[in-house]
Amino acid sequence: MIIAIDGPAASGKGTLARRLARRYGLIYLDTGALYRAVATLLLNDGADLSDAEAAVAATARITPAFLEDSSLRTAEAGRAASVVAAMPPVRTALFDYQRSVATTPPGAVLDGRDIGTVICPDAEVKLFVTADLTTRAERRYHELMANGMDTSRDIVLKDLAERDQRDAQRAEAPLVAAEDAYLLDTSNLDIEAAFQAACAHVDAATGIN
Ligand code: CDP
Repeated sequence: MIIAIDGPAASGKGTLARRLARRYGLIYLDTGALYRAVATLLLNDGADLSDAEAAVAATARITPAFLEDSSLRTAEAGRAASVVAAMPPVRTALFDYQRSVATTPPGAVLDGRDIGTVICPDAEVKLFVTADLTTRAERRYHELMANGMDTSRDIVLKDLAERDQRDAQRAEAPLVAAEDAYLLDTSNLDIEAAFQAACAHVDAATGIN
């Protein structure tokens, strides 16, 4: 089974995806980490973020351990990720890996921006997770502060708004809900309530239970 989860930054899709993977016995793949990894490698090399050739070469240097590296979680890495993610050759270079994770039994939960539309249009379940911008900014602000990164609510909000716009307006694989995605607005839902709503949808869509 493949569960595709898309949505804007800090909508709560990562937490939800991780919990759904555990609940249904599936592998979890945070596809945003792939773009964050490419961007971070370029930043570390002092390379130009618009250098598509260097970015494609960087995709071959991603290791499972690096995907867990805390340096990928900074606001700067998120911003840079959305720049490299707009380059079609980078998306192409990361396609096969994402497909292979998704299609290896028992299946996977993938979260990102183009999972239901481009990577796994064949997913049994598609969720599009959103929340209003202020709610998302508040969540990301607390997340960054909890991880020891000093920032302000205003900076985080501006950053997310810019990233949303770049992700939604790019020509290749823009952030958009698949036509058959189930819309889950988590603005007024805590993690548990969002998880319960998602499970109810997965169960109904797949005939489990
Ligand atoms: O965690 P957060 O929602 O802030 O972002 P992320 O999922 O880690 O993704 C970082 C950036 O990577 C996004 O702003 C997108 O530009 C890009 N991305 C993408 O283009 N396609 C994906 N499937 C996942 C992420």
